Amino acid sequence: DTETLRRYDSEYLWHPFTQMSEWEGAENIIIARGEGSYIIDTDGNRYLDGVGAIWTNVHGHCRAEINEAVKQQVDRLEHSTLLGLSNDRAALLAKRLIDIAPPGLAKVFYSDNGSTAVEIGVKMAFQYQQQTGNKQKTKFIRFDNAYHGDTVGSMSVGGIAIYHEVYAPLLFPTIKAPSPYCYRCTLSPEGDCNSCGLLCLKELERLMEQHAHELAGLVIEPSVQGAGGMIVQPPGFVKGVRELCDRFDVLMIADEVAVGFGRTGAMFACGKEGVTPDIMALSKGISAGYLPLAATLTTKKIYDAFWGDYAELKTFFHGHTFTGNPIACAAALASLDLFEKDRLLESLPPKIDYLNRRLQGLLDLPHVGDVRQEGMIGGIELVVEKDTRKPYHWEERIGVRVCLEARKRGLFLRPLGNIIVIFPPLSISLNELALLMDGIEASITAVTG
Ligand code: LLP
Repeated sequence: DTETLRRYDSEYLWHPFTQMSEWEGAENIIIARGEGSYIIDTDGNRYLDGVGAIWTNVHGHCRAEINEAVKQQVDRLEHSTLLGLSNDRAALLAKRLIDIAPPGLAKVFYSDNGSTAVEIGVKMAFQYQQQTGNKQKTKFIRFDNAYHGDTVGSMSVGGIAIYHEVYAPLLFPTIKAPSPYCYRCTLSPEGDCNSCGLLCLKELERLMEQHAHELAGLVIEPSVQGAGGMIVQPPGFVKGVRELCDRFDVLMIADEVAVGFGRTGAMFACGKEGVTPDIMALSKGISAGYLPLAATLTTKKIYDAFWGDYAELKTFFHGHTFTGNPIACAAALASLDLFEKDRLLESLPPKIDYLNRRLQGLLDLPHVGDVRQEGMIGGIELVVEKDTRKPYHWEERIGVRVCLEARKRGLFLRPLGNIIVIFPPLSISLNELALLMDGIEASITAVTG
């Protein structure tokens, strides 16, 4: 029963990103089932999944077609290895990924989580420069508020102090670019991103000009900085970054772990601005949130720099045990089939419009300072005072309090500091989206008065 499970959980489990002193002994929810947009706990309570199983869910929970594909694959082959072998699902999926990826991406390197997908991109870019006569190009540009995962390499290109500061001595040095955070712009005091002419891009240009000789690559979450607070980039930013990378001969590594697979309304965020990155990291939505799977896509040009006789030692010496796992790839293939069958991308615009209207409506609330949206991603920034944009002190945990309030209303949400995150399954119905937004509005009102 739930009590026993809670006891085992408290006694034996260490939860990620969780202060366990608050967790142990609390009435924590234990999820046992999923159904469409809902997750269901061991007591049968249903919660609308407002954050889509930590930003991974695409077609809803326990979607029959994906379940079936996984079951069939388990009976055929659970795992072999991609080291010295191939498997049918991994090959089929690689072809499908290249078919839908921004034009120019030609090769798929698998791994099993978003952090490693980015870290692989960083290693690829580094080694590419080493093997193409640019030995001095060893550094990376990263953005403030960036989040690319928690392994040491992906933390190095991250920019969120509370996550990364304590590990500073372990991280490799980077060139730090300002975050394109219009609501809290450090470059344009008026914070008016429409009239500033993209000062953040100008600053990036200055940094690139200064450091071009030593820069191997730049790492960016295109369109939206996720864990940084669902910070939506001004239009033209991604394209501008691509142009600067071209001009200064810097490899562009796009981390589409959170924004990939339809989340922004397009299959990939880079595609929205007609951009092809040199390297693209994918995870989360790739398997529709079913199984750990990730991929780092790259161009023929980069791939070719690793080509040679084995004795030249140009091989990419990297690989994980579960790379290209056939069950995970089978789930991913079934997910791509559903994109077509459900005409999922075509079904999004009315939901995106609705989300937009509801978010705009929230601006009437006295403590909603900013609302941000890109496709099916929403962010609501709560402030003490709107005129001065004064943030709530982090110790007030205003985001956590709103999300706990929402739980009473049958919603599961997880905030990012003072930002309420909206990241539901893409398959959510308009009615469910209305319930979600009603619940969020009521919870913000209840908590902020
Ligand atoms: N890149 C991006 C853009 C991500 O959003 C994530 C994870 C990763 C890479 C790393 O993927 P992973 O290794 O987890 O598969 N810490 C926050 C949010 C974490 C969001 C997960 N994003 C929280 O405590 O809510």
